Amino acid sequence: MTTQTPAAPIAKGLEGVIAGETAICKVEQDALIYRGYEIADLAANASFEEVAYLLLVGHKPSAGELKAFEDELKADRDIPAMMHDKLREGAKLITDGAAVPMDVLRTGVSVLAHMDADCQDNSADANLRKSKRLLAKIPTIIGHMQNAIDGRDFVEPDSSLSHAANLLWMMTGEKPSAEAVKVMDVSLVLYAEHDYNASTFTCRVIASTLADLHGAVCGGIAALKGPLHGGANEAAMEMLSEIRKDIGPKNDAAKINAWMQQAFADKRKLMGFGHRVYKNGDHRAPILHALGRKAAEARSDEYVKLFELGEAVQNIMETQKHIFPNVDFPCGMTYFTMGIPVPQYTPIFVASRITGWCAHIMEQHANNRIIRPRVSYTGPDLQKWNG
Ligand code: SDX
Repeated sequence: MTTQTPAAPIAKGLEGVIAGETAICKVEQDALIYRGYEIADLAANASFEEVAYLLLVGHKPSAGELKAFEDELKADRDIPAMMHDKLREGAKLITDGAAVPMDVLRTGVSVLAHMDADCQDNSADANLRKSKRLLAKIPTIIGHMQNAIDGRDFVEPDSSLSHAANLLWMMTGEKPSAEAVKVMDVSLVLYAEHDYNASTFTCRVIASTLADLHGAVCGGIAALKGPLHGGANEAAMEMLSEIRKDIGPKNDAAKINAWMQQAFADKRKLMGFGHRVYKNGDHRAPILHALGRKAAEARSDEYVKLFELGEAVQNIMETQKHIFPNVDFPCGMTYFTMGIPVPQYTPIFVASRITGWCAHIMEQHANNRIIRPRVSYTGPDLQKWNG
């Protein structure tokens, strides 16, 4: 019996294809909305923990619900001691150039699966418990990994600190300023969710086989790593460093323009620019740009010059190509200004997007059908193996 591949137009990269329904997030050129709340409203008025609760549980928390949620996260930050040596081994691989932090984080989440008593349970209650535990523990993996890379002792989580503040504390062993915590907190709010982006779609495909939440999250981390997706925040900063090296210490407009014309001639993809949905700008980018620039102005001229370089690049992209920065462009400059090591930018994206991924995995499990599209065959005609 033969089955025919249906004759349907092929949308390369699934562009424009509506592949499902979600109550979690709406991504449109005219607005970015998490469960009914607009992103600028959330960035200005909600903490990351409030947004995490909104995404995972489904509604804005009351004061009591928020306090209980924050306490639960703080109590769950420790990771099993047997992971400590694994993270030191991972850090050695990173130092030797055999791995990057996103690989070690992916392995860390995979190991956490083995330690989680709920691992094989896909019920709504178990999924929520696992989501909260992952949200609480991912900063600890990132922090321990960075301390091992830097040759320092591990820094214990601090239960007096918020998610954003604890993340900065664990990575450095220094208590962050209120301003740094605010910038980190808002960046986490902005990164938390974005409907059917590649990593979230990956999570949903894995969850749709009725595989477990940790497995789906490992797939999400693997997908986010790529420079066309979350890896772009690191790649954007690397690109700005390359421009700086090429043009020298001054922001000479003619030299920046010449660099850009060469990039256009080489048909180079400029990292941190463009988006599948936003063709006239990403709602998150100006919010993070303004905060990052303020942090740069408070720090020193060197960082202001970085933002000025970014603004010059952005201006040329917008006026000559009508291509706008996505959230990863200001993120690169902002995290650099905060002194965060570049290879940890995408792991920090994970520390936030874990909320969106888990919300989608739970939504998929709650109303599941396996995700299994068709493909158009373009291989050889039928032939005989023996002749
Ligand atoms: C994220 O999907 C999400 O929601 C993702 C995300 C989230 O929150 O989850 O928003 C996070 O992943 C942001 C994107 C990070 N990636 C980058 O910054 C990498 C650089 N950008 C691109 O490669 C690209 O813009 C994508 C991957 C983001 C989108 O790819 P598309 O939709 O397939 O667009 P395309 O590559 O087909 O581009 C359309 C045109 C092309 O020109 P033409 O062939 O039509 O002449 O725009 C040009 C592209 O060459 N173009 C760029 C460009 N982005 C698009 N040209 C130079 N530099 C760029 N960055």
